[in-house]
Amino acid sequence: MKTRMTVLTVAAALGAAAGTAGAATLKISCGAVGQELELCKQSASQWAKKTGHQVEVVATPNDSNERLALYQQILASGSDKIDVFQIDVVWPGILARHLVDLRPYVKGAEKQHFPSIVANNTVAGKLVAMPWYTDAGLLYYRKDLLDKYKLKAPTTWDELAAAAKTVQDAERAAGNDKLWGYVWQGRAYEGLSCDALEWVASHNGGTVVDATGKVTINNANAARALSTAASWVGTISPKAVLNYGEEEARGVFQAGNAVFMRNWPYAWALAQKTDSQVKGKVGVMPLPKGGAAGRNAATLGGWQLGVSRYSKNPKLAAELVAYLTSAEVQKMRAIKSSYNPTIPALYQDAEVVRANPFMAALYTTFSSAVARPSSVTASKYNQVSNQFWNASHDVLSGKSDAKSALARLEFSLKRLAPAGNWK
Ligand code: GLC
Repeated sequence: MKTRMTVLTVAAALGAAAGTAGAATLKISCGAVGQELELCKQSASQWAKKTGHQVEVVATPNDSNERLALYQQILASGSDKIDVFQIDVVWPGILARHLVDLRPYVKGAEKQHFPSIVANNTVAGKLVAMPWYTDAGLLYYRKDLLDKYKLKAPTTWDELAAAAKTVQDAERAAGNDKLWGYVWQGRAYEGLSCDALEWVASHNGGTVVDATGKVTINNANAARALSTAASWVGTISPKAVLNYGEEEARGVFQAGNAVFMRNWPYAWALAQKTDSQVKGKVGVMPLPKGGAAGRNAATLGGWQLGVSRYSKNPKLAAELVAYLTSAEVQKMRAIKSSYNPTIPALYQDAEVVRANPFMAALYTTFSSAVARPSSVTASKYNQVSNQFWNASHDVLSGKSDAKSALARLEFSLKRLAPAGNWK
């Protein structure tokens, strides 16, 4: 298991306050994808200044599943190394027993947030984490290139593949030999489970395990979805996509080397920065449907903040969480770095919408995002996802055809839940 973890900064409190009796040092783990770490440091140090306490920000691995492995190692040993954990939307069921109930501390503040996320973060009546930002898979596209070739924004995956190929072929013939049609997340990790769920759900192939706990993944629509994605590898997507996470895809797109990209909202603010090659040239739309009978499907993502049961300062840690998840901080994060708020009222905030037109325009994409089967599979979710991303990767890399990969996946998922029981 990897234990990549670095204490990056000490957000020191004001000199005078730090010396006062009772000043504590809290440690918070933050993600480091895009501008996450920088923003986390800023807000943590603002809280430190306000309160006279100190916060150390600990950077953790980018891949969600690697971060989970590290957290599990720390928490299983009952260590107080980290007070506040940044928790993926799919982890409450996995980590609940190590986290404190925040309800008594946040005093009703959770009522400002999307009820569905609060419900997701509530395990056996305990609010194990406060919502921090929400995510949904989006299709980024180059407006300038679609205009140049008089192409409409695609509504189905086949239209996307055709448009990607038209632009890629024409641009390459004109000497733009680095250009690819479509970049996305194809590495064998949690991010691939998100992309693959979108392909499958958009073809009406279900959500791997349904809400009642039944394994549904072995079906013809799901097989069609995965074979379609496999057909992109080496044609409109570079073979290297099999090792891409979010940041690798963004790197290619932001350098101007892709027509389309699947990514989360954070990529918007970075694409608009002055050093971005695609500033002002990018549109955002829902991911395509799996054919005329299919539907738009965006995987629901997002991150929460939870307090460790082993923290020596749970009350203070909960205060830090309340500050970081407040409307004030969420608004700043949305405007600066396009992190989607978990407070519905902020979607009507003029400054938030001005900085991120897609947040208002694609509100239905966010409100109808497809959840991974984490609630029903609870503490086994990571095993389910691990098997799903491996099966998907086998299909994408040509190691297996979709039909047999899904038959094997069904068999091994069923073994995880004897008689359909996930508990
Ligand atoms: C994003 C999502 C998270 C997901 C991860 C996968 O960070 O918010 O829910 O698990 O991507 O890479």
